Amino acid sequence: MTIYEMEGGRRLEGELSAQGAKNAALPLLSAALLSREVSVLEHCPDIDDVNVQAQILETLGCRVTREGERLTIDAAGAEGFEVPRALMGRMRSSVMVLGALLGRHGRGVIHSPGGCAIGARPIDFHLKAFSDMGVRIDWQQDELTATLDAARDSDVALPFPSVGATENVLLLAAAIPCVTVLRGAAREPEIVDLAHMLCEMGAAVEGAGGDVITVRGTKELHGVQHRALSDRIAAATDLCAAAITGGSLTLCDVNTRHMGSALELLRHAGCAVLSTQDTVWLSAPKRLSGFGVVRTMPYPGFPTDLQAPFLALAAAAQSGSVFIESMFENRFHHVEQLRKMGADIEVQNRVALVRGTNLTGARVQTADLRGGAALMLAGLAAQGVTTVCDAGHIARGYERLAQRWNSLGAAIRVSTGEDLPT
Ligand code: UD1
Repeated sequence: MTIYEMEGGRRLEGELSAQGAKNAALPLLSAALLSREVSVLEHCPDIDDVNVQAQILETLGCRVTREGERLTIDAAGAEGFEVPRALMGRMRSSVMVLGALLGRHGRGVIHSPGGCAIGARPIDFHLKAFSDMGVRIDWQQDELTATLDAARDSDVALPFPSVGATENVLLLAAAIPCVTVLRGAAREPEIVDLAHMLCEMGAAVEGAGGDVITVRGTKELHGVQHRALSDRIAAATDLCAAAITGGSLTLCDVNTRHMGSALELLRHAGCAVLSTQDTVWLSAPKRLSGFGVVRTMPYPGFPTDLQAPFLALAAAAQSGSVFIESMFENRFHHVEQLRKMGADIEVQNRVALVRGTNLTGARVQTADLRGGAALMLAGLAAQGVTTVCDAGHIARGYERLAQRWNSLGAAIRVSTGEDLPT
C-alpha cells in the first residue's frame, strides 16, 4: 500500500514536461513483438502498466531493457504464445497482446484480462473482429485459445469504436499478407501512433484517425525506433492540479491538438489557457466555476479517463456541474471517497450532479487509476491533511505524480503506510 499524505491549500506554479502516453506505449510494445528484430521505444513512461506489459513480452521470450524512458525490445527469441494468467490479470490491455501473437505465430493463448474495476469491460468486439478475420476462438473456463489457420482479406466492422479492439485488429492485420478494411474504428491519437509504428515496420496503414482504416500487411515486419506520443490524460491531470489550486502551469512536450475538449472545459471553468502546438500555458482563477454539462465520449469527445479528475475540480468549484458517463457503466467509485472530503455529489446511474463546495482533508481510498488521481487533486484543494491510501492504482499510469506536483509547490509525502496511524 502506498500512502500519499498531503497538506492542501497550496498554490501550484511552475513548469512540467509531459510523460509518454501509457495508452500509446502499451500497444507499441505489442507491435514490437511482430518483428524478429530489435525495436527501440522512446518516451515510454516508467509506470506499472508499461512495466507489466514489458514483463509479458519477456515471458514470451523477448529481451527487454529499460534505460530511463527508452525501452529496447529484442524480439528475436519470442517463441512463446501463451500469456501467463498472473500477468493477464494485472491489466486490461494485456488482451492487446493477442493480436500480436496471432500476427506473429498464428496462435495465442490468453486469460481473462484485468484492469480497473470500472465496468464489465468485455472483449466480445475483439473476438468478433478476429473471427471475421478467420481466427478460431476456443474458450475453456477463463483460458482463451485463438488460432489463425489461413490468413485472408477481410472487411471488419466494430459495433462501437473500441480502442483496444481497433488496436488488436491493426496488430494482426499488419502482420498478414492480406488487405483488411476496418470500419467503425476508434479515432484516438494513440491509434494513429500505433499505425505510424506499423508503417515504419513495413505495413501499409491508411485512414488511422478516421473511422475506416485499411491495412495491407506483410510477414516481413522489421524492428524500428519509435517515440511514443505524449500522454494527453496525464498532461490534463497536471493542468487540473494547477487549476484546482488557483495556480499556473506551463506544460511542455504535449500535443495540444489532442487535448481540445479538456482545454475547452478548463476555459469554461474560468482558466486562461494559451497553447502552441506543443506547449500549454494555464493560469487559474482563485476559485473555478462549474463545467456545465460534461458528457464522456469517444475521441475527439471528452475522454472518460478525465471524468474523475474533472469531477474533483467540479467538487471544489463555486458552481454546479453535471457529468454523464457514457463510456463505462461503473466509473463513479471516487464519488463516495470525495464525499468523505465534504463533496456534494449525487449519482443516479451514469449521471453525477455536483454542487461545488469547500473540501476538507480526510482519509480516502483509491479504487482505480483515474479515481486515484481525482482524490489526489481533491487533496491539493482541501483544507488540512488528506491521506490517500492507494493499493497501487496511481503508479499504474502516473509517473512519480507526487514528486511532479511537489516540484510545483505541493506538500505530498509518500510512504508505504507503515509509519502512519490507521
Ligand atoms: C481504452 C483505454 C482506456 C480508456 C478506454 C475508453 C488503453 C490501454 N485503455 O480502454 O484508458 O478508458 O479506451 O476511452 O488504451 N467494449 C465492449 N466489448 C469489447 C470492447 C469494449 O463492450 O470487446 C465496451 C467497453 O466495455 C466500454 C467501451 O466499449 O464500454 C469502450 O471500451 P474500449 O474503447 O474498448 O476501452 P479499452 O480499449 O479497454
